[in-house]
Amino acid sequence: MKRRERERLAKAAELAKRTAAADVEVATEVVDDVVDDQESVSPLRVEPIVLPDGSSFHHLTILREETVDALEPKSGGVYADVTLGGGGHTELLLEKSAPEGRVIGVDRDERALAAARERLSRFGERATLVKGEAGALPRVLESLGITHVNGVMADLGVSSPQLDDAGRGFSFRFSGPLDMRMDPSRGETAKELCERLDETELANVIFQYGDERKSRPIARSIKRAIDENALDTTDDLRAAVHRVIRPKHGQRIDPATRTFQALRIAVNDELGQLEALLACLPDVLADGGVASIISFHSLEDRLGKNAFRGDPRMERLTKKPVIASDDEAARNPRARSAKLRAARRVSREVAP
Ligand SMILES: C[S@@+](CC[C@H](N)C(=O)[O-])C[C@H]1O[C@@H](n2cnc3c(N)ncnc32)[C@H](O)[C@@H]1O
Repeated sequence: MKRRERERLAKAAELAKRTAAADVEVATEVVDDVVDDQESVSPLRVEPIVLPDGSSFHHLTILREETVDALEPKSGGVYADVTLGGGGHTELLLEKSAPEGRVIGVDRDERALAAARERLSRFGERATLVKGEAGALPRVLESLGITHVNGVMADLGVSSPQLDDAGRGFSFRFSGPLDMRMDPSRGETAKELCERLDETELANVIFQYGDERKSRPIARSIKRAIDENALDTTDDLRAAVHRVIRPKHGQRIDPATRTFQALRIAVNDELGQLEALLACLPDVLADGGVASIISFHSLEDRLGKNAFRGDPRMERLTKKPVIASDDEAARNPRARSAKLRAARRVSREVAP
């Protein structure tokens, strides 16, 4: 058996082992020394990207090989990465589709686009980076004169640089304005959302998107903070939740985690974006083209699973989601909640 074939089979066996369930968990990122044994592609990047303004951008790419390999990259293929971030997956996709593969990278966040621009400059015109929304992929492609792509990938949610930037207001780990927008140039902030929704609507958001049992008293506490002019920062939101659920000594997960997740999902319409993306896949994918999607919580995963399962135009390639290896989960806690699902566009001769 040839070495490549042996490696392919070993990888398939490894993937099969990893299809157990993973829980939603928010944790701080740990950056350890990362060893990558691939010879032909760049190793997983652990050093930060330095942006033109001198700031640094660091995100550990999750399920890097698995997500990109699912797309079966080929030279001459055209691919879309609709959650470009710092370009970690796109970089590998461009390497694996060399010399002529092309990637359209889409992100809502200017800072992510700037980081990706730095990282991907060596690929020249093979990388086209666009500010836009994943759910508007057909419009993005149309604006570039592209009708079909050979693969679409998404690595949903927020990046570490977004979470770690206090000024973006995503995390209770840092004190910052209560913002949470992936695209800070438009839309409603988390504070404005909390002000606009009435108490019941706010409780519903916290319950549905955060799976928070105490959603009603938390919504009441948030509304009280607004009435007292005391809901401006991430600290204020955290305090409003802690008034309802007191953190216990030694508790690993902060009681505010679910409420922060819920508001972030609502502010960025994350599920609406995913639904729009999933709906357009059978149209934008060329025959045989593959979509691979990494989700981080059960609401997203369920949408992906059902979309692929119920559509005769899409053949599921992962009956159960692929999850991170023990090794990856140990060096990057955020990877522990990642689930990858992939599906292939059936030929239009079979399912138009
Ligand atoms: C987890 S990061 C992607 C990291 C990237 N795969 C890497 O390894 O470098 C997710 C990125 O997707 C962007 N994003 C999330 N949802 C989006 C959407 N609906 N439309 C456009 N960009 C989105 C976020 O702004 C963020 O930069």
